[in-house]
Amino acid sequence: MVNISRELQPEPCILVIFGGTGDLARRKLFPALFNLYLEKQLPEQFAVVGIGRRLKDRGEYLESIVASIREFSRKTDPGHCADFLSHVHFFQMDITATESWDRLQEYLLDLDSKYHTQGNQLYYLSVAPQQFIPIVDQLKAHGMNRAAGSWRRLIIEKPFGKDLTSARQLNRKITGAFSESDIFRIDHYLGKGMLQNILVIRFANSVFEDVWNYKYIDHVQIRASEMVGVEDRGAYYDQTGALRDMVQSHLLQSLTLIAMEPPVNLSAEAIRDEKVKVIRSLAPLTPELVRKQVVRGQYAGYRQEKDVNPNSKTETFVAMKLYINNFRWAGVPFYLKTGKKLAERSMEVVVQFKKPPGVHYFGPETQLDPNLLVIKVQPEEGVFFRFNLKNLDSPEQIQPVEMDFCHNCGGKTSPEAYERLLHDAISGDSTLFTRWDEVEYSWRFVDTIAEAWQNSGEEPVIYPAGSWGPAEASELIKRDGRKWVRL
Ligand SMILES: NC(=O)c1ccc[n+]([C@@H]2O[C@H](COP(=O)([O-])OP(=O)(O)OC[C@H]3O[C@@H](n4cnc5c(N)ncnc54)[C@H](OP(=O)(O)O)[C@@H]3O)[C@@H](O)[C@H]2O)c1
Repeated sequence: MVNISRELQPEPCILVIFGGTGDLARRKLFPALFNLYLEKQLPEQFAVVGIGRRLKDRGEYLESIVASIREFSRKTDPGHCADFLSHVHFFQMDITATESWDRLQEYLLDLDSKYHTQGNQLYYLSVAPQQFIPIVDQLKAHGMNRAAGSWRRLIIEKPFGKDLTSARQLNRKITGAFSESDIFRIDHYLGKGMLQNILVIRFANSVFEDVWNYKYIDHVQIRASEMVGVEDRGAYYDQTGALRDMVQSHLLQSLTLIAMEPPVNLSAEAIRDEKVKVIRSLAPLTPELVRKQVVRGQYAGYRQEKDVNPNSKTETFVAMKLYINNFRWAGVPFYLKTGKKLAERSMEVVVQFKKPPGVHYFGPETQLDPNLLVIKVQPEEGVFFRFNLKNLDSPEQIQPVEMDFCHNCGGKTSPEAYERLLHDAISGDSTLFTRWDEVEYSWRFVDTIAEAWQNSGEEPVIYPAGSWGPAEASELIKRDGRKWVRL
């Protein structure tokens, strides 16, 4: 086994979670922190402060944290829970009340001397997007964004804006308070182990990287399907939709890992330099191309969901074909697909290779299956590879055979994305966070699609809940003589 060297280590700090009583903190952040604690991945001098209005004191807060660990943590070790909780605090405040910020500052100073956290503070904005700017303004107004001899960092949850204009406005605000290297923009898909594995699959295996281009690859599919609908997030989702919620962030980020050039080294900047080049190279979509290459769907019953406009045109499904205008990927289509209320929950990247040229050796009727490499991100984590062999029982036949590696089958659990991301932010490693220019170019690309939809006035196509999505998505790929690969 070879270790991937990582120079940065977790540093003493206070993690301040704005929205510490919310759903994300309960389901993801505290279970992740607890697992990091069990695995000794947190610094010894460490404290967490959850901020919210709805609970009254630390006792009540710790009870809610214990309950969330019981329900959502991949490891539960009651013996260590009390130790962990000794690092957890609650600060009741309304972030809109200016006077409470002075109290917060004092409170953090006290904790700093108690836990010897050296003045380092990491602010996690786990609140609604409209609260991002007011919080950053207050942090700046109270001088909490900088401290001589210590670091101050900001983790900002997705969504980063709702279009290019709002993203720029948000970015101006936060870069006016924190430097780019101290801003950690979360795209939690980047914390998923198998997406990180794309770089290892590519760059640690010459069998793949040497054929990773237009000469050998027929096309790529990147798909993320959910079985659930909007659940209780109707109000947010109806203003957002699948294009902004999934394509702008998770799917384009996955695409960059598949398509990027080898970076000069594995530093955060070198990797992100290459990723951003991919987004900049996306072939622009004119309104005409949007009509031909992008399918916009909505599941039947969506308009009756709670907090959703009964005449909503918001899409819950997107499928699209796009091209990358560079030498490596000339003419290779990338098909992206994502949706809610689909037949399965999965995220996969499918790389389909071209058929071998020597097909005529095996007779004119022979239909050889193309080689397939499938990177399975969730719920299974693994790699599937299909290739052709002579059938030993029936030597006249060639048959496709499969190698299927599954890391988490058989009950093994992998670290959650938020474990890795919190660990990295505490260590100051921004490799798995999106840099501003990546966000900016993604919005530019996505905005052209959103504008084309808006100007066309067309309705999304309705697809049955629990199906594989609209028939138009199958047509999109079938027109090119291809199909969505199903393992
Ligand atoms: N939930 C997820 O799975 C998920 C996934 C990806 C991204 N996100 C993003 O993460 C962020 C948080 O989502 P969430 O689902 O956790 O939201 P949520 O459950 O609605 O929680 C919102 C949090 O904000 C706090 N809050 C609201 N107004 C406040 C105020 N005036 N003063 C102090 N605290 C205030 C609430 O505390 P009190 O009610 O106690 O005041 C609560 O802790 C959002 O940006 C969301 O888009 C969430």
